[in-house]
Amino acid sequence: MTKLLFRTNRAIAIQVLSRYKSNAAPQTLTTVRIKDKDHITDEYTNVTPKILSYLGRNLHLQKGNPLSIVRQRIVEYFYRRFTHRGKPTFSVYDNLSPVVSTKQNFDDLLIPNDHPSRLKSDCYYINKDTLLRAHMTAHQTELLRSGLDNFLMIGDVYRRDEIDSTHFPVFHQVDAVRSQRKEELFCDKPDLEIFEPEFDSSNPNAFKNSIMDPMKQSCHTLEATKLMESQLKNHLIGLCKALFGENIKHRWVEAYFPFTHPSWELEIYYENKWLEVLGCGIVRNEILANIGPNNSIAYAFGLGLERLAMAMYKIPDIRLMWSTDSGFLNQFQIENINANITYKPVSVYPQCTNDISFWLPETLTVDTFTNNDFYDLVRDVGGDIIEQVKLKDKFIHPKTKKHSLCYSIVYRHLERTLTQAEVNKIHKQIENAVVKNYNVVIR
Ligand code: PHE
Repeated sequence: MTKLLFRTNRAIAIQVLSRYKSNAAPQTLTTVRIKDKDHITDEYTNVTPKILSYLGRNLHLQKGNPLSIVRQRIVEYFYRRFTHRGKPTFSVYDNLSPVVSTKQNFDDLLIPNDHPSRLKSDCYYINKDTLLRAHMTAHQTELLRSGLDNFLMIGDVYRRDEIDSTHFPVFHQVDAVRSQRKEELFCDKPDLEIFEPEFDSSNPNAFKNSIMDPMKQSCHTLEATKLMESQLKNHLIGLCKALFGENIKHRWVEAYFPFTHPSWELEIYYENKWLEVLGCGIVRNEILANIGPNNSIAYAFGLGLERLAMAMYKIPDIRLMWSTDSGFLNQFQIENINANITYKPVSVYPQCTNDISFWLPETLTVDTFTNNDFYDLVRDVGGDIIEQVKLKDKFIHPKTKKHSLCYSIVYRHLERTLTQAEVNKIHKQIENAVVKNYNVVIR
């Protein structure tokens, strides 16, 4: 049976050594401890101690963090705009655990088994059944199941990605669901229906709901879909105006999400380019019907707090959100959350760029080498002074047929100047870790 040899830190240390090798044989079972709970690790485990250290920071709840100010403004918008008999219509959940099951994050949301968002290279898995949520939508079905129909879910989400000034493996989202029954949606049009007449809501299987029609789900009437669409768009443009002012330029882009249909993305025009700020759509009826008999139609959306905060306050680097430096935080210590703030860089410290190039072992090619694994390794060793990692060159030697890769690693400390000597030391440590984990030869 299961043999638990190592726990907590020791277990993590062991994983760190073996994790990056693709196809590494699963070792003796170990566990990883997250918030007093031990999770058994397996060949899916790819959370790193560095990533786990972000759990519980809850930047979206820290007074004086820009993400928290944007959160409050969004919540206030929904409180102000939607009330029923003097009470807010939306309930707010901003303290749900980021440790979720694959069922919550994917299955319940109809995300197919072969969908790329499930890949190990894109998510932080604790083991094959458990991961750090990749989106706040992971909580949608559990909250619907508990009987809620209008709610906001706010928290930290975890995705493996490239490294640059706008990407960080942890970011924050606000997700929402708004549901309505016929009496609410069509309160002044009692002869209109949410569902097509042949759809029997008491038996969802009697009518296989389809999303073939780009305009609507087959179970819904066009009138209900269109009315929900116009409410959804109106509410979200209203939100953008509340955050950016009346003159904000926006556009809607058709989108696809497995859990909504039809779906859209909203982009705003900011500093001469279109910036995608949220995804949304009409919730797939199967999701609601899987929970229990359903007679309502719902819309859902998910937006990224970092994107909004960076644009609203002109914050140039996503890592600043994590800064504990008073020069940064003091600029956001405000009484009025609607105050206009423009971030003033305390000072900009210079960056240092060092390249790393290596020959791959015969088992790997320039195309099978997983970039995201490499980025995590670099960040694990280098920490938050890693500003960017860029693939610079792929090379196959014409004679020896050996494969080689070259990456540029950009180092910058947000609060002081780094010396070349200390960067070289860390760069050397990264080289050593890369040699150890991938069996490469540094060029
Ligand atoms: N979960 C989606 C994402 O993270 C956003 C979304 C939420 C889209 C709800 C539609 C509905 O990209």
